[in-house]
Amino acid sequence: MKIAVVGATGLVGSKMLQVLDEQKVRIDELIVAASERSVGKEIVFQGKTYKVVSVDDAIAARPDIAIFSAGASASKQYAPRFAEQGTFVVDNSSAWRMEKDVPLVVPEINADTITTDTHIIANPNCSTIQMVMALAPIHKAYGIKRLVIATYQSVSGSGLKGINQLNYEEGADLRQAQEPNTMKPAYPNQIYRNVLPHAGDFTDNDYTTEEEKLVNETRKILRDDSIAVTATACRVPVTGGHSEAVNVETLKPFEIEEVHRLLENTPGVIVQDDPSANLYPMALTAYDKDEVFVGRIRRDYSIANGMNLWIVSDNLRKGAATNAVQIAKYLIETKLV
Ligand SMILES: NC(=O)c1ccc[n+]([C@@H]2O[C@H](COP(=O)([O-])OP(=O)(O)OC[C@H]3O[C@@H](n4cnc5c(N)ncnc54)[C@H](OP(=O)(O)O)[C@@H]3O)[C@@H](O)[C@H]2O)c1
Repeated sequence: MKIAVVGATGLVGSKMLQVLDEQKVRIDELIVAASERSVGKEIVFQGKTYKVVSVDDAIAARPDIAIFSAGASASKQYAPRFAEQGTFVVDNSSAWRMEKDVPLVVPEINADTITTDTHIIANPNCSTIQMVMALAPIHKAYGIKRLVIATYQSVSGSGLKGINQLNYEEGADLRQAQEPNTMKPAYPNQIYRNVLPHAGDFTDNDYTTEEEKLVNETRKILRDDSIAVTATACRVPVTGGHSEAVNVETLKPFEIEEVHRLLENTPGVIVQDDPSANLYPMALTAYDKDEVFVGRIRRDYSIANGMNLWIVSDNLRKGAATNAVQIAKYLIETKLV
């Protein structure tokens, strides 16, 4: 089993290597690739040192699976070249997600959309993955009519430059001696001690790309274009872990205790919901965990079939690396590769 990690020097790429190790994925040969800037750098995996290679060299090595976390433009450029030679590509970027023939996969929900004809598999956006993990069982039981979403996304969702900007601004605020920040800022406004109603890039309709992903990817994964979705995606000064307030309107009536039970019995979801003990999901407690945490499960009394949920997960794990590694494991276990 020859596996390439493309973008291995980045936040998601490093987490990917960690999760590949933790989940004991069989790897006979590992190839770590990144941009030309990093060629020759060393990465240690399972006690062995690997030199970072260029993407061209990774293609030439003809891996069985290439897991990409190198951004959309690198993915557009290189993923088809891997796929043409028979490599299964699992891509973390937004490049391929909405292509008709590309499965957009959260393994617990729709691994069956991967077929022998599949060449590129898209990993959904981090905010979408954690949300649909909680919504899929609700949709199956009651049918979802409408979603109103507000996200509170951490700076690690913007990669190394997001963390750099928060740390730099925090250091400046604490009056520490600061060298000029050489890394380009991730956000146009200060993130430290602030909340930006702005995650992703603004589009022509005044929404952002992150908000559009929540609309389009949710419908594709839940296989239901009739679901009405609207979202506001915010960036908050949290290092890791995305939080989401999700208002759900269902087609069929439900009992809120039943929703609790449904989520408690959903693999990959952990319910943390005890207001009397101040227990609810938080970015800090979800940090470095693979699961999706759901709490504040309560009826929305303003409509007939409404509920509110608070959903939190580590965006670098289930939102990116863990989900991608689960897909790779699925390919291996089902002998597609
Ligand atoms: N952060 C998250 O929570 C999250 C969640 C889901 C999906 N994603 C997606 O995952 C991807 C990576 O995100 P990240 O947070 O890990 O970003 P990051 O920390 O900035 O890392 C980017 C990685 O991509 C490599 N890269 C950049 N341009 C490249 C090129 N032209 N050819 C080859 N490699 C290139 C970089 O290599 P160098 O080190 O050589 O520059 C680095 O390894 C993005 O598409 C992002 O949207 C991120």
